[in-house]
Formats: sequence, structure tokens, C-alpha cells
Amino acid sequence: MAKTKTTFFCQNCGAQHARWQGQCTACKEWNTLVEEVVEKPTKKDWSQSVDESTLSRKRTQKPQRISQIDATESPRMDTTNAEFNQVLGGGLVPGSVTLLGGEPGIGKSTLLLQLCLNLPFKTLYVSGEESAQQIKMRAERIKKDVDNCYILTETKTQNIFRQVAENQPNALIIDSIQTLQTDHIESTAGSVSQIRECTGELIKFAKETNTPVILIGHITKDGNIAGPKVLEHMVDTVLQFEGDRNHTYRILRALKNRFGSTHEIGIYEMLGHGLREVTNPSELLISQRGSSLSGTAIAATMEGMRPLIIEVQALVSTAVYGTPQRSATGYNLKRLNMILAVLEKRAGFKLGQKDVFLNITGGINVDDPAIDLAVVVAVLSSNFDIEISSQHCFSAEVGLGGEIRPVSRLEQRVNEASKLGFEKIFVAPSKTALKDKGTQIQAVSRIEELVKYLF
Ligand code: TYD
Ligand code: MG
Repeated sequence: MAKTKTTFFCQNCGAQHARWQGQCTACKEWNTLVEEVVEKPTKKDWSQSVDESTLSRKRTQKPQRISQIDATESPRMDTTNAEFNQVLGGGLVPGSVTLLGGEPGIGKSTLLLQLCLNLPFKTLYVSGEESAQQIKMRAERIKKDVDNCYILTETKTQNIFRQVAENQPNALIIDSIQTLQTDHIESTAGSVSQIRECTGELIKFAKETNTPVILIGHITKDGNIAGPKVLEHMVDTVLQFEGDRNHTYRILRALKNRFGSTHEIGIYEMLGHGLREVTNPSELLISQRGSSLSGTAIAATMEGMRPLIIEVQALVSTAVYGTPQRSATGYNLKRLNMILAVLEKRAGFKLGQKDVFLNITGGINVDDPAIDLAVVVAVLSSNFDIEISSQHCFSAEVGLGGEIRPVSRLEQRVNEASKLGFEKIFVAPSKTALKDKGTQIQAVSRIEELVKYLF
């Protein structure tokens, strides 16, 4: 019997190595090499498993003059899900391949099944993870009486293409790419070479038949999409579905988009009967308005291109142990430590002997520096035990010198604040005067100045 040939693949970048070594010489990552069986591929094309006559294909491409290429864009396919359309940049592009990643249990299968059930054209949902009955049970919770959605439980790509050729769906959904296997390669499902090969076949299929394909991808424990990094390079769009599993909010974000911007986000709420699109998130995130409490401040932040008004809560208490505790949920701990140091050094607040806990409500993770000012206010409010009016909101970055710095897209933030009826928004001084739309704009240049206003 012929000896089986094995090679070592890097799980991070997909590079091949002849023997095992601790570090991948291509991407310099440690302990990422895994041994896989490789076999010379016999036939490599997705369409060879399909009867030649069933599909029209262009075999070889010839170079064309750029001026002669027909650039009338084929219309985008409306998914009837406004948030999803927005993230994609206006709908599904025919022939595009989209990869959706996210933590286990966050709702990837739910999102795509729901999308499938609502698509106004014929779709095929291929699952390698659940049985048809399980999918049906889930679909029953989301929407009843649907007849243009087809379910297939299959993991062999050749069989999938055979069914696709017979069924001719307008969109193909794969749950998940890690469960697929092609006959051309010997290694197990989920291995680097299988993922790369199956994705390659699906991309070729999508481009040649102009069918949009959406793939679900698992992520590793550090949050990257499992499989080689090349997977993300191969596909047209990479989406990420994220959120806190203990909270109901989910954010859909585009990490890469060949057909649109990556600034758009979609917000959903996970309910008992599927995902609900949230069109006005700010209202939900600060639902307990009206009662002012010490230690809470409201920030006008941006998530991608959308303004989001969120609540920051802080608890400052005397440290029991020698080393004070600092903890932050939804906010960078290093940044919290920096802000506390600024308050101590530049504004003279004695926080060195205090425990400080910070929480962003709604289970949302905020990177926008405009939240800094609200963090300062929440910490000081809890420290003095003086409440801040729930009619005030804050939007500015805090610098190391204790200065308050302007942030981008201030106008959008102010508009959102006035839409929600805030009386006053505290911002950094800026050269361009903003129009007052019911919310008073208060410019403050230093923390000391802000303290004088509020406490
Ligand atoms: P799922 O889509 O299976 O996650 P993934 O495919 O990302 O692993 O989502 C599973 C979670 O969603 C599960 O914990 C239950 C919850 N869920 C609801 O809350 N409501 C629903 O209508 C559905 C279908 C699921
Ligand atoms: Mg799933």
C-alpha cells in the first residue's frame, strides 16, 4: 500500500511545512502547526460533480478592454431584513460570498435561518450541524407557512452541488464551513486544507452561476474565524455577529466588505421567536430614564456610523485590601486606569485607595473615545454620592493632561441627544458652532471646569 503523504499546516496563516516546528516561519505564530493527510487532487472543479448539461458555464476567460466591460451593476437582492441590507451596503450582491462569524450560541444559525425564511426568492439552507427536524422546530418558532425555503442536511460539497444543480436556488446558505468536506482531499472536516478547498469550490460556484452564498464560520477562543486566515481573504464580505450571551442585544458588523462600507452596523434583539431588528437602539438602552442615581452618566457614542446613547455606571467604594480593585465591563480596563490616574494627578481626586467598578449597560462593548467624559462623570458622581440629572449627556474624549477633547461626528451625536429629549449635552469646545436643536450644547475645556458645573 502506498504510504499516505502528510504535511503540516499552520492553523493561523495556512502555510505548509514539510516537518513539524514550534513556530510557523511564514506568520511567526507559535504552536499553530497541525499535521494533515494530503492527497493529490484528482479533479478539482465543483462542477465536475454536476451533469455537464444542467449548468451553463463560461469556461475560460479572455482579457477584455476595461472600457468594454459592462459596468451596469446587477441590482442587489433585497433580503427584506433592513439591518442586514444596511450592513451589506444595500442588499446581497449576486455571485458574492459572505462569511458570518461569531461565538457559539450567539445566534448565527438563527439569523441566517430567519433570513432564509423571509427571502422573497428560493433559497437552500444546507446544514451540517443540525438535523432537518431540529431546523424545522427552530423555523416554527420564527415564522410559519414558508414555502420557498429548502433545507438540506449534507456535508459533502459534491452532493451539495448536485442538489443545487437540480433545485436551482437563488441563494445558498451553508451552516457551517467547518463541517464541509470535499472528496478531493483526504483530511478531516474542519482542517485547514478542507476549509480552504471547500471555500474555493463554493467561491467558484458563486462566481460562475451568479448565486450569492453565505457561509457560517466558527471562531477560535481568541475571537478569530477558525481556519486559515486566507479564508477571510478569499471571500467578498466578512460579517461578525457579536453580543453578550447574557443580554439580548446582538450587533452585526462588517469586518470586510468588497461592495460597501465597513462602518455600518445592524442591531438585533434576541427574543423567544427569533431576532427582532432594532431601529432605535438608544431608546432601549436607556429605558430607565427619569430617575437620577448617583454613579450613572449617559454618553452619546457612535457604533460604526450610528449614534448610540448609552448608560455608564460606576461604583466607587473604599478599598478593603491594600491593592484597590478596578474592574470594567464593556470598557477597556487600561483606559479606566488611565482616566483614574488623570483624575488623581490633574484634578486632585484621591481615588488611589478606592475600588472602582465600571459597567456599560446593555452588554455592549464600547471603543469610541467619546465615552470618556461620561466615565469621568460617573466615577466622580459615585465618589461624591451626588446624582447627575438624567437630562444631561456627555460626549468627549479625555486627554492625559485632564483636557477635554473633541470627537468626530459631533453633529450626529447632538441630533440623537435632542431626538431623545436631553436638555443638555456636554462636549469639548470646537471651532465650528453647532446649531441648537432643543438640546443645549455646553462646551467644557477641562475636568475642573466640568466639576464646577456639576458638583
Ligand atoms: P444559534 O443560532 O443556534 O447560535 P449559533 O448558530 O451562533 O451557535 O442560537 C442559539 C441561541 O439562540 C440559543 O441559546 C437560543 C436562542 N434563541 C432564542 O432566544 N430565540 C429563538 O427564537 C431562537 C431560534 C433561538
Ligand atoms: Mg449554529
